[in-house]
Amino acid sequence: MLIRKATSQDIDAISALFFDTVTAINKKDYTPEQITVWSASSQKIDMWAERIATQHFFVAILNQQIVGFSSLSYEGYLDFMYIHKDFQGQGMASALLFTLKNLAKQLNIRHIWADVSITAQPFFLKKDFVIRKITNKEVKGIIFENAIMDFFEKL
Ligand SMILES: CC(C)(COP(=O)(O)OP(=O)(O)OC[C@H]1O[C@@H](n2cnc3c(N)ncnc32)[C@H](O)[C@@H]1OP(=O)(O)O)[C@@H](O)C(=O)NCCC(=O)NCCS
Repeated sequence: MLIRKATSQDIDAISALFFDTVTAINKKDYTPEQITVWSASSQKIDMWAERIATQHFFVAILNQQIVGFSSLSYEGYLDFMYIHKDFQGQGMASALLFTLKNLAKQLNIRHIWADVSITAQPFFLKKDFVIRKITNKEVKGIIFENAIMDFFEKL
């Protein structure tokens, strides 16, 4: 498996992976209405282009296929962590997070935080993130219960 920076050429694959993961994996923790609203974000091509251009945005590649992606803002906000529905539980997210944490260390970013889905909270808890607070985020009139989670690099 290889991890590299994402480019605008990757947008179609990222968008498809996001849609498939939300509809196949997150659906066990959310209502059909929530999944419809959430998965529709996959179509925001300008949003993907903007995030790839303005964040540290990485893709994980296996046999020339994008099997996961993750991004970190310049301030330390972990914006995305999505693994392909067919490659869950194989250490892909661990590898991406390792890359982000190493980069953060190099950039002297000691605090990483994320707005984490119900689905991903056990993963982030395993990776030494702690829950700061539970939030009710509204998207298109639909409420999502998420957790703001923090990771602090030890000095
Ligand atoms: C959460 C997610 C990113 C984890 O990716 P992954 O590649 O399957 O995670 P890994 O294989 O690297 O798992 C690392 C560890 O976390 C644990 N873990 C991962 N997901 C877990 C879950 N849902 N419940 C319990 N443990 C979990 C694994 O068992 C593993 O533990 P181990 O090191 O003791 O073996 C993935 O399930 C996903 O894409 N979820 C849907 C998208 C999503 O909600 N993203 C976050 C948006 S905020």
